[in-house]
Amino acid sequence: MSAEPIELAAALARFDQLWSPRIVTTVNDYDVRIAKVAGEHVWHSHDHTDEFFLVLDGELRIALRDGADGGQREVTLPRGAVFVVPRGVQHRPYAPDGASILMFEPSGTSSVGDRHDAVPGHVDATTGHRL
Ligand code: NI
Repeated sequence: MSAEPIELAAALARFDQLWSPRIVTTVNDYDVRIAKVAGEHVWHSHDHTDEFFLVLDGELRIALRDGADGGQREVTLPRGAVFVVPRGVQHRPYAPDGASILMFEPSGTSSVGDRHDAVPGHVDATTGHRL
């Protein structure tokens, strides 16, 4: 929780690292995290929580394996769009042209989830850094 208003544009200007979420505030047991992203994240899933996305700038795409037969699809989130990845669903966010995003998830949630492919060097397998 923060005692003062938080200007998200100013908060985003305070860091440059990609795929490295920053905790801007908390709500009960949830973190409000922001991240700058470009290129691909990693396939992963969260066993215990849904994951909320809001696109602040740019366009985010999320590949999902949520078909009845394990089929894969993709959603495209333009600026201003929100989307929730349900718990247990494998997903891989990516942003070909870069994006800034806000995520809402329980404190302690790893950005690469509970099951994931090998984490590439450009992805921060963190539970979020304080701004
Ligand atoms: Ni995730």
